[in-house]
Amino acid sequence: MTSVTYLSELFSLDGRVALVTGGSSGIGRAVAGALARAGARVVIVARGETELAATVAELTAEGREAAWVSADLSAREGVRAAAEAAAAVFGEPDILVNSAGINLRPPLGELGEDVWDTTMAVNLEAPFLLGQRFGPGMAARGFGRIIHITSQQAHRAFVQSGAYGVSKGALESLARSQAEAWSPHGVTCNTLVPGFVMTPLNQRLSSDPDRVAALAARTMVGRNGLAEDFAGAAVFLASGASAYVTGQSLFVDGGFSTH
Ligand SMILES: NC(=O)c1ccc[n+]([C@@H]2O[C@H](COP(=O)([O-])OP(=O)(O)OC[C@H]3O[C@@H](n4cnc5c(N)ncnc54)[C@H](OP(=O)(O)O)[C@@H]3O)[C@@H](O)[C@H]2O)c1
Repeated sequence: MTSVTYLSELFSLDGRVALVTGGSSGIGRAVAGALARAGARVVIVARGETELAATVAELTAEGREAAWVSADLSAREGVRAAAEAAAAVFGEPDILVNSAGINLRPPLGELGEDVWDTTMAVNLEAPFLLGQRFGPGMAARGFGRIIHITSQQAHRAFVQSGAYGVSKGALESLARSQAEAWSPHGVTCNTLVPGFVMTPLNQRLSSDPDRVAALAARTMVGRNGLAEDFAGAAVFLASGASAYVTGQSLFVDGGFSTH
C-alpha cells in the first residue's frame, strides 16, 4: 500500500456531502475549502451572496464541487429553508459544520434582550435546529459528522464575553448531547475551539496592533490564528479517522488556552 492510499483511506472525504454554515468567510470558508479539497461536495450557507458566490467560484475553479445557499440563520424559518435548499443540491449531508456566528460585545450591564436573542439564535439555536434536521438521518444511515465552531469563551470570560460566551458554552454542551444521542449510530459530534483568529469577526480587535501583538504573545506558538489553521483538524473530524473521537472540544489555538 502506498502512503497516498493509506492517507486516503484515513482521511478522504470522497463521496461525502458537507454543509458548512458561515462557509463564505473566515474559519468557515477555510473549513469548507478543506472539506472540498479532501473530496466532499460542499454546500455553504450564509447571508451575503457576493461572498458566497466568490467562495464557490474559487472552489469550482479548482475542480471541486461546491454550491451556496443564501439564508438568514437568525430566524427559525431561515434555518429550515436553508436546510431544505442545501439538502436539495447534493443530497442529505454526511457532514454538518456550524461555523456561522456573531459576536456582539456590549458591556453585560447594557446588553439588551435583542442582542441576547440574536446571539442565541445564530450561535446556538441554528446549530440545534440543523442537528435536529440532519442528525437522525445520519444516524439512520450509520455515518455522520457534526462539527461546531465554539470559542475559548465557552471556557473562560474574555473581552466582554456577554451573551456570546454563554452561547458558545451551551454549544459545547449541545455537542455532548448530540454525541450521546447519535454516536452509537456512527455519528460523532465535536467542537473546534479557536483562540484569537484574524478574521472579519474581530475586525475591531485585529485593527489594534498592540492588542494583536499582546494576544500573539499569550499563545505558545507565538502568533495569532489563521483561518487555514483549521483545515487539518476539520478534515480529521469529518473523516473516518475520527470515528472514536466524540463529544470532544479540540482547541486549535496555538496553546493560548494552556499558557
Ligand atoms: N475569529 C475568531 O477569533 C474566533 C474566535 C473564537 C470563535 N470564533 C467562531 O468561529 C466561527 C467563525 O468565525 P469567523 O471568525 O470565521 O467569522 P466571520 O469571518 O465573521 O464569518 C462568519 C460567517 O457567519 C455568517 N453569518 C453571520 N451571521 C449569519 C446569519 N444571521 N445567517 C447566516 N450566516 C451568518 C457570515 O456570513 P454573512 O454575514 O454574509 O451572513 C460569515 O460567513 C464563529 O462561530 C465564531 O464565533 C471565531
